[in-house]
Amino acid sequence: MSGESANERIFVSGPWVTELEVSYVAEAARTAWLDKAGVFNARFEKAFAEYMGSAHAASLPSCTSGLHLALAALGVGPGDEVIVPDLTWIASAAPVSYVGATPVFADVDRATWCMDAASFESLITPRTKAVIPVDLYGGMPDYDALLAVAARHNIPVIEDAAEALGSQWKGARAGKLGRIGVFSFHGSKTMTTGEGGMLVTDDDALFARIQFLRDHGRIPGDVSFVNAEVAFKYKMSALQAAFGLAQLERVEELVAKKRQIFSWYEERLRGLPGVTLNAQPDGMLNSYWMVTIVLDPALAQAKGLDKARLMALFKAQNIDTRPFFSPLSSIPAYADTDQGKAARARNAASYAIGPYGLNLPCGMSLTEAQAERVCASLKDILNSKPAA
Ligand SMILES: Cc1ncc(COP(=O)(O)O)c(C=O)c1O
Repeated sequence: MSGESANERIFVSGPWVTELEVSYVAEAARTAWLDKAGVFNARFEKAFAEYMGSAHAASLPSCTSGLHLALAALGVGPGDEVIVPDLTWIASAAPVSYVGATPVFADVDRATWCMDAASFESLITPRTKAVIPVDLYGGMPDYDALLAVAARHNIPVIEDAAEALGSQWKGARAGKLGRIGVFSFHGSKTMTTGEGGMLVTDDDALFARIQFLRDHGRIPGDVSFVNAEVAFKYKMSALQAAFGLAQLERVEELVAKKRQIFSWYEERLRGLPGVTLNAQPDGMLNSYWMVTIVLDPALAQAKGLDKARLMALFKAQNIDTRPFFSPLSSIPAYADTDQGKAARARNAASYAIGPYGLNLPCGMSLTEAQAERVCASLKDILNSKPAA
């Protein structure tokens, strides 16, 4: 670290953009119109499907729209229930509400921070129409257990892999574990298009329905402008697709960078008493979208350190962090619902993790010296006396 940059601001996330992205977007700006309007989207979708080993891929304006389409295509609607983990971003649950169904909040596993299979099974009712496991911060739930429960009860799995591009479960890519997988290319993600998303599936009929639903109820190629149903407009622009195509061509180096950044933190923080880092259980490959720490609740309480206090202490050092997601059952959007109240009383693991977790800086331009500064700050914070 150079002297003058010793206290420079460290951002929590950020992309890695090269001349390849810039040149593809410039080409799209010049050419992707009229009969060539869809060329970059088609190239991006084909390349993404190949990368995933999936039969189909649809480029979308967001991952949220992918979840919405998945639920709509599966026919989930009012009166139905969909099981989601309590500890995730609201985008995993909001689309359940969009289609008029009820999100049911399963607890997470203490080690993986992802949906617990036993909790999932305990919440299944005759109204359960889908389950949305989330690959949190690049981690993955125990899919052997989770898929066995889903199969036993014949419940379709929509894998929310928004945060897990490049992760693997026993050799299967994140996003391939369910009937449908969805990804986010938001600006903070490992691979980005600014805003954007992708849906993958091997199911021909479901994909045909998704293609129809995402273009106002039109079959691809339709020029009649006569719509069979009221549907949605969920398409990615050609400029975003061009950007995404370039990022995808670099996906291995993007994921490797994330894993390198995690290794810098791991070397310095592994074994620090009361601090847990992202898990990578045997058989799983974690792409570590967000380097995350969770403090042991007893330590955190003894030190007066919840995530808001931790963030403020880091901010005082010019270091940006992000709070771990709060349990959905605790946030105003869902707290007063019957499912919110029930989950709050039940989901001990979610409530032992959410308040005490923090995402550390892990943007693509982070240097090892900056990671060192973050780790030194964390150690100072943990060694200092509790606030009076
Ligand atoms: C777990 C999870 N699901 C879904 C989404 C939604 O993605 P998007 O912002 O692309 O709609 C996100 C966004 O970050 C997410 O973290």
